[in-house]
Amino acid sequence: MTDVTTQKNGIDVYNKTTYASQWLNAADERIASGYYEKDHYRDTLETLKNAPGNRVLECGIGTGEFFALELAKSGKSVYGIDFSDELLKDCAYRFGREGLAARLGMADVHALPFKEASFDIVFAIGVTPFMKDLALGVEEMVRVTKKGGIVVFDLMNIWHTSQFINHWYRVFESSRFGFAFIRGLKTLKKNMGFQTHFKAAPEEVNHKLYSPLSLRRAMKKLGIGYRVRGYNVLLPLDLPIFGRYANLCERSKSLSYGLKDNKFLKYLGSKLVVIIEK
Ligand SMILES: C[S@@+](CC[C@H](N)C(=O)[O-])C[C@H]1O[C@@H](n2cnc3c(N)ncnc32)[C@H](O)[C@@H]1O
Repeated sequence: MTDVTTQKNGIDVYNKTTYASQWLNAADERIASGYYEKDHYRDTLETLKNAPGNRVLECGIGTGEFFALELAKSGKSVYGIDFSDELLKDCAYRFGREGLAARLGMADVHALPFKEASFDIVFAIGVTPFMKDLALGVEEMVRVTKKGGIVVFDLMNIWHTSQFINHWYRVFESSRFGFAFIRGLKTLKKNMGFQTHFKAAPEEVNHKLYSPLSLRRAMKKLGIGYRVRGYNVLLPLDLPIFGRYANLCERSKSLSYGLKDNKFLKYLGSKLVVIIEK
């Protein structure tokens, strides 16, 4: 059984505590299971490594286990902020263990404690689902980036089939009726011999998804040009009930990878990676 805190009005508290602990506890498992072998992580790392300049800021650095560490190993000077102290401590430990250094601090991506034009490269991966205001967060990242530098972030795209289904599934599950209904289905699945776990209580939906249109609106508001890459176009990822059995991306990597720059289809990718050249 998973330990779940139900927070009616405390999504922020939830994200800083319960979610942070879950992310922390699963860190070694993520690394061991090849979580970062996915195309959008590998491509994004290459983009960041090849970007000109040395001063890098990761917003929402978490445990820094992949991007921050790899960038430091490649010779970049790494700064990181996160709103979870617990994750930052673990990040510092991981850097120390490798004999590397990162300058870390507790801060919110919506109010970065740096002067204008402080960094060559600023990025946030896996952070927009928790941001209260996408435009404000992006504005802050752009503000602290030097002219000629880049800003990179990713989004969960509601136009993708399984992101859409998963999102509405979570909304349904967080209601009383939905919770009871899904508990029944999961019990059935368990009785049939499939592995399953069940939450202790209905959980607030704490992940924000965006559409390419809502991204465009935010960027238009800021008057900023950008490019997009879309990953896992059309192919379902994990689905409710079916879990990883439905993940066709694992079986057809070349197809999902090949469409990342397609002019139209990329907007149907499960993850959109946004690149701003300042
Ligand atoms: C899914 S994790 C990703 C961590 C890391 N970027 C990575 O790719 O491994 C999301 C991270 O963003 C942090 N976070 C979420 N909202 C934030 C905010 N408003 N300001 C700073 N950090 C935030 C969380 O604490 C967590 O460490």
